[in-house]
Amino acid sequence: MFPFRSLSSSRSLFWPACGVILAVTSGAVWAAPPPEAASCAACHGAQGEGMAAAHYPRLAGMPAHYLAEQLHLFASGQRQNAIMMGMAKPLSAEQIKTLADYYSNLPVTMAAPAQTVPADLKPRGEQLAMYGDWKAGIPACFRCHGPGGVGVAPSFPALTGQTAAYLTQQINDWKKDTRSGDAQGLMHTIALRMSDADTKAVTAWLAAQKPEAAVMGKTDQAGGAQ
Ligand code: HEC
Ligand code: HEC
Repeated sequence: MFPFRSLSSSRSLFWPACGVILAVTSGAVWAAPPPEAASCAACHGAQGEGMAAAHYPRLAGMPAHYLAEQLHLFASGQRQNAIMMGMAKPLSAEQIKTLADYYSNLPVTMAAPAQTVPADLKPRGEQLAMYGDWKAGIPACFRCHGPGGVGVAPSFPALTGQTAAYLTQQINDWKKDTRSGDAQGLMHTIALRMSDADTKAVTAWLAAQKPEAAVMGKTDQAGGAQ
């Protein structure tokens, strides 16, 4: 049913992932939130926009397959976070699919970020995001996360519209192995190659980018495994 899902398993680190995938639309439009989402809104916002002040990530417009995968990883403990493990464990596979489809189809409503990139972090942040650092073995973030970091369905989440603290936490979690389960360990490998200064620069840069274009993430459906 979803012909591109298998692609992610054959991607190498430097394989440009964008393009072809945009032709698919799920078409699902939700008139009202499903009852399952009632307990999520307190932290992720009524529109899935997240809560920047608490570094709770936005879910709106993220690829559905990615969101579903993360809920399964929280439930299995491969992605460790006390709050989300507790939220995900009681959910059935069907509820996970419903929630992922719902949030994926919400428009990205958050305002443009207030932050600007500190001048001393800008050059390195922009370099890593757009071009990577071949000497350090770090591919450009946009290679997989799409031009502008807006995400590429089904497996690559948007990096825009999240706070620098949230993004930093994820990179550090991969380094510590408290977040795993990503396709082929791609992010684990990349995180280990990034110094703390690299992480600081690229997350500051990403957090200052406009999130609106991230509706690209709407182009898939939750469900099957990779
Ligand atoms: C009490 C606050 C809280 C509630 C309630 C909550 N979450 Fe979360 N959620 C978080 C935090 C904190 C994280 C970041 C976890 C991490 O750093 O790994 C997160 C992360 C996520 C992610 C991963 C996002 C990404 O970009 O990788 C998904 C998916 C998610 N939550 C879905 C849900 C759903 C669905 C519900 C309702 C069933 C829910 N959450 C309820 C706090 C909450
Ligand atoms: C080779 C492909 C690839 C490249 C290049 C890449 N990523 Fe990722 N990234 C992924 C995949 C796949 C995931 C989803 C992991 C999962 O499913 O758990 C991800 C997820 C993430 C997340 C988690 C987002 C969230 O919502 O929780 C962050 C943060 C991240 N990447 C940062 C970066 C940064 C910074 C760079 C550039 C230095 C980068 N990535 C380059 C493949 C890549």
